[in-house]
Amino acid sequence: MPETRSNRKVLVLPGDGIGPEIMREVLRVIEFFDRRHIASFEVTQGLVGGAAYDASGVPLTDETMAQAMASDAVLFGSVGGPKWEILPFELRPERGLLRLRKDMDLFANLRPAVVFDALADASALKRDLVAGLDLMIVRELTGGIYFGEPRGVETLPDGSRRGINTEVYTEAEIERVVRAGFDLARKRQRRLCEVDKANVMESGGLWREIAEEVHADYPDVELSFMYADNCAMQLVRNPKQFDVIVTSNLFGDILSDCAAMLTGSLGMLPSASLGAADSSGRRKALYEPVHGSAPDIAGKGVANPLASILSFAMMLRYSFDMAAEADLVEDAVRRALAAGARTADIRQQGAAPVSTRVMGDTILAELAAAA
Ligand code: NAD
Ligand code: IPM
Ligand code: MN
Repeated sequence: MPETRSNRKVLVLPGDGIGPEIMREVLRVIEFFDRRHIASFEVTQGLVGGAAYDASGVPLTDETMAQAMASDAVLFGSVGGPKWEILPFELRPERGLLRLRKDMDLFANLRPAVVFDALADASALKRDLVAGLDLMIVRELTGGIYFGEPRGVETLPDGSRRGINTEVYTEAEIERVVRAGFDLARKRQRRLCEVDKANVMESGGLWREIAEEVHADYPDVELSFMYADNCAMQLVRNPKQFDVIVTSNLFGDILSDCAAMLTGSLGMLPSASLGAADSSGRRKALYEPVHGSAPDIAGKGVANPLASILSFAMMLRYSFDMAAEADLVEDAVRRALAAGARTADIRQQGAAPVSTRVMGDTILAELAAAA
């Protein structure tokens, strides 16, 4: 695979907890690509989350935000942890991530749940239910109750407190993410399921109406609707019924953690957070594992780096049009798992789990054998 374009600007934000541990393994894959002249990247590292707060008093500085805006892609680890939970909301580590998503306008969050053959027995469900599973959750990422106003906690005249968050969606916000869902479905099995709570929420009813309207432009895609509570149940009852799911910010957050367990572990789920394409087809993008900073295992060197390594593969595919190179990484993961490399979260009974570093070594060895 000859090198065609260099100066791909990538901002790496490892963050907190297991973030730096898993990102270290991604950086080794990037170095491998460079060393083997497969592709080179101009990598800059920055601070986000609790790490940024400790260094500068905010979870994301304006300088880092500007660097993210100027980069071709951002690779994100994870943020948060008990140490920062006492902070006011606006200074919490998670706000760093939310600002990146909002200011970069990354409205479409693609969360693929793919079951690797070798892991069908690691799933919380029976093998038959998950073997061969390949579903995609498209989560709206810059609107809804995460950002809606009014919000906050107020004190009422009687001295008691009231907490407020608001689910708000404009027609334009719904339409663009629903289109992203239809576009993806068209490249897959041509089935899109729109998930909401239209039975109790007016905004959910609007999601349904808009999905139907947009459907007119995609007559080749089958559109269905499901309530979010039923969807949670259907994901564990018969997940293979789904191809692409499109849903709001909050439902997508919850349903994707649920889908992660179908694949064996939250440590397996990558994601791509994408903005709109400009006239030259380029889009702002941030790649992040679905999992968090895992404070319970941070610092122990046991976290699964595969969600992050697979997020890097999504970066190759969606930001740099490098499908063959993305396949190379995904195949290396497939072969490493088939050969029995397992971190503790996906361990096989009777076999010793490997560390984060050894999983990284195994992926590099598989890449070297194939490149
Ligand atoms: P979590 O995803 O961090 O962890 C949930 C469970 O999954 C834990 O038992 C953890 O050990 C395990 N786990 C997660 N990733 C793993 C991996 N790669 N390998 C092995 N095991 C893994 O969720 P949580 O415990 O609810 O949240 C912890 C902190 O992370 C909170 O501060 C939360 O706000 C933050 N968070 C951040 C992100 C993000 O940065 N994108 C996402 C979710 C949660
Ligand atoms: C995720 C996380 C984030 C979210 C938090 C850390 C802000 O749970 O990416 O799934 O809720 O979106
Ligand atoms: Mn989440």
